[in-house]
Amino acid sequence: MKTKNFMVIMFATLVLMAMPVQAQKWEHLADTPQMGWSTWNKFQGNISEDIIKGIADAMVESGLRDAGYTYINIDDCWHGQRDGDGFIQADPKKFPNGMKAVADYVHAKGLKLGIYSDAGTGTCAGMPGSLGHEYQDALQYARWGVDYLKYDWCNTTNVNPHGAYQLISDALRASGRPIFLSMCEWGNSKPWKWARDIGHSWRTTPDIWCNFDSLRVFEAGYSQFGVMQCIAFNDSLRQYAGPGYWNDPDMLEVGNGMSESEDRAHFTMWCMMASPLILGNDLRNMSEATRNILLNKEMIAIDQDPLGVQGWHCMDRDGLQFWLKPLVNGNWAFAILNPTRSDVTYELNWQDLNLTDKEVSGRSTKLDTQVYRVYNLWTHKKEGKTSVKNKPERKITVKSHDVVAYRLEL
Ligand code: GLA
Repeated sequence: MKTKNFMVIMFATLVLMAMPVQAQKWEHLADTPQMGWSTWNKFQGNISEDIIKGIADAMVESGLRDAGYTYINIDDCWHGQRDGDGFIQADPKKFPNGMKAVADYVHAKGLKLGIYSDAGTGTCAGMPGSLGHEYQDALQYARWGVDYLKYDWCNTTNVNPHGAYQLISDALRASGRPIFLSMCEWGNSKPWKWARDIGHSWRTTPDIWCNFDSLRVFEAGYSQFGVMQCIAFNDSLRQYAGPGYWNDPDMLEVGNGMSESEDRAHFTMWCMMASPLILGNDLRNMSEATRNILLNKEMIAIDQDPLGVQGWHCMDRDGLQFWLKPLVNGNWAFAILNPTRSDVTYELNWQDLNLTDKEVSGRSTKLDTQVYRVYNLWTHKKEGKTSVKNKPERKITVKSHDVVAYRLEL
């Protein structure tokens, strides 16, 4: 009997030893959601070394870097040809000094550089993809000093998503340089169910466009989402996000043409959902209103709260959406979003929000016994306290396509 047990253990050990050791993704690159800027929403393929340098300068001068926005991400269309050995090169017209020079410039400003590739034969804009070149591409990015890779999903017929993202994650790990992996397969194969140890964030939606609540439908059969559609998709996935792995409802469109209210609502909801804050506007040329939104440090702190719980759409009343987000130290963020076409005044009974977040944090607001100080995150004013009485306590007007947001403090 003893010999048999020994044999079983020996056999199991041999089997385990024969299994390939899977590398872990780079840890601690995403303890809070990533913050930065990307070329895509504003410039698409019309990019250059000069634009990147100008944006890096503006990131510093505007105070955005010091507010936490660190990545400068070059999206699609930076690519030139592969060289004779298969190593990818930057487009020599757009980046005449090569990608290492861009990385050096960005790093000298205290910022980090992001780049873009695709798991298929070509990128979404038809540039060379990484299929069959994964380790080589990761090595090249590491040599250049790249800190972040967005990895897209176009032209991937017969490619297995789990395998493809595991492969590039392993390649990044093997490159020896800590590189953030931003997965972009639009939620097609539910990466939130399998990618926690592979990537640092995953897109949950199709592409956003600069619109509050409508779809932009293309003849080819796909659509782009407005802000509200992105929120609706991302909403149901809060249980899958946390420190190290975030749901990504796509990059920001603040400053690209929506109204100030819409921009404020968009930004607030991304913070409430602990979403990556990747700016998409021309930082060299920002209005005062855009600046005020993107530099609201108290709102950014809601996004970056170390507890890392994605906000909870806990109630709907009179067309308004009520959102709560548990924060460290027993505090909460509380936002009311008005997606309707008219202003709405709501009489708030704090007891309606006496709720427990059973799904993720297990935390309860305990508003029947606990009194919080109410701080308005957009006017930056104190607005008294919550009440343990079971009756409407205050009238709150939320403008159309706008938001009212508070921090409830113990
Ligand atoms: C896809 C992505 C976008 C952008 C483009 C670039 O559509 O989802 O975010 O990267 O490709 O071509």
